[in-house]
Amino acid sequence: MIIPEHLLEKYNSPVPRYTSYPPANYFTGEVTESKYIEAVKDSNNRNPQNISIYIHIPFCKKLCFYCGCNALPLATMSAMENYVTTLKQEIRMVAALIDKGRKVSQIHYGGGTPNVLPVEWIAEINELIYSLFKLTDQPEIAIECNPAHLSFDYIDRLKKAGFNRFSIGIQDFNKDILKTVNRDPSEFPVGEILQKIKSGSEHIAVNLDFIYGLPGQTVESFLDSIRKAVDLRPDRLVTFSYAHVPWVKKAQKILDKIGLPDGELKMKMFSESHNFLLANGYKSIGLDHYVLESDELYQALQNKSLHRNFQGYCTRHTTGQVYAFGVSSISQLEKGYAQNTKSVKDYIESINSGHLPIDKGYMLSDNEIIVREVINQLMCNMHIHWKELADRLNISQTAVKNAITYDGAELKKFEEDGILQLTAEGLEMTESGTLFIRNVAASFDPLTNTQFKQFSKPV
Ligand SMILES: C[S@@+](CC[C@H](N)C(=O)[O-])C[C@H]1O[C@@H](n2cnc3c(N)ncnc32)[C@H](O)[C@@H]1O
Ligand code: SF4
Repeated sequence: MIIPEHLLEKYNSPVPRYTSYPPANYFTGEVTESKYIEAVKDSNNRNPQNISIYIHIPFCKKLCFYCGCNALPLATMSAMENYVTTLKQEIRMVAALIDKGRKVSQIHYGGGTPNVLPVEWIAEINELIYSLFKLTDQPEIAIECNPAHLSFDYIDRLKKAGFNRFSIGIQDFNKDILKTVNRDPSEFPVGEILQKIKSGSEHIAVNLDFIYGLPGQTVESFLDSIRKAVDLRPDRLVTFSYAHVPWVKKAQKILDKIGLPDGELKMKMFSESHNFLLANGYKSIGLDHYVLESDELYQALQNKSLHRNFQGYCTRHTTGQVYAFGVSSISQLEKGYAQNTKSVKDYIESINSGHLPIDKGYMLSDNEIIVREVINQLMCNMHIHWKELADRLNISQTAVKNAITYDGAELKKFEEDGILQLTAEGLEMTESGTLFIRNVAASFDPLTNTQFKQFSKPV
């Protein structure tokens, strides 16, 4: 893949990442506990019928300077135990509102760093979920782990607790680069960690996370990390573009002072690692994910049924409406989003007084549900097929185009720049245009076109 530099100049301006529509910075305090309860009850009658559960464990042993996640420094054991007890109570409270005929197809632990908790606490949360809900035949039970403190015994016990998807945060194999961003390297060789996770079951998959655009990284150094990763043959691999948002994440200002690679260098890191991954048996999914050809996500991409929620890509078969637990976690129901408070203190006080700790959210209008469908379809499957979308939404193609900010002349400009190709049915992103897919999505978005918010750059 070669991306002409003039396109970078033209399109590398801040746009939403579209991990949700609308993006989380459009959430408002209008979504309260009672609105959320109403939405949960309503979600029982909506699709998808499957249930996805997200559990947020915010604590980290050390905070990485680049971190864009909702992460907090480690608390005392008793404070963390209190947090987990509260989390279990929150699960019971929401479970009471959910139709018992529905099944859980996904459980995802994210953070922060879930593996800072004693593994038996995590097993107990799973036991509670298994006792409260029915599960689909092959649910995905996933956990994000920091390898700086992930022992073999811990992995074994996670597997016994039912985990079959492990996402390991590598970021970079170069220890000097990790040191610059205040991160410890893996305690054990990553190859041995992968072997341990995969041993004994062919149904367990491992993902490795990387970030490009950190201080000190060069095209060659980043490629070296990706080469090392490819030698280990993980099932999935992500190369995140470092999202620099120092106005929200103050610690990121430290990286400004150290000096960040510019857009051109980042683009080269992306394109060289992309080419290398494709040349070595990986298939590109969405913007920054890579999977082996046998992966169900690749099959889903092939038949245009790839889907996405805050936790990452999934197939329409595995995904459900997302019910989220823990501080800052975001529930993603068919009708809208609700986010919990970010304060551990407020979270615990709220649950202890019998209230769900909803801080903000967004309920979508009928129009916005259409926009969400268009943007999701583009972001996941790299194409738009107007008739297919209209049929799925049960409306006319004109009604789809009227709901979004459809501008044929602007699409033509994207085509002239080689970002996409207009087809008889709709449009297809080109390979090099993929990097600017967020710009195309933003062009359809009535909200970003009318209400200004700050976002990170595509590259
Ligand atoms: C919750 S962390 C993963 C688990 C664990 N805390 C760890 O760091 O290994 C989620 C992932 O988000 C990515 N990430 C964090 N901050 C980011 C940023 N500012 N820009 C892009 N990716 C970021 C990292 O790749 C990280 O692995
Ligand atoms: S990247 Fe992971 S370990 Fe580092 S601060 Fe963020 S959540 Fe914690």
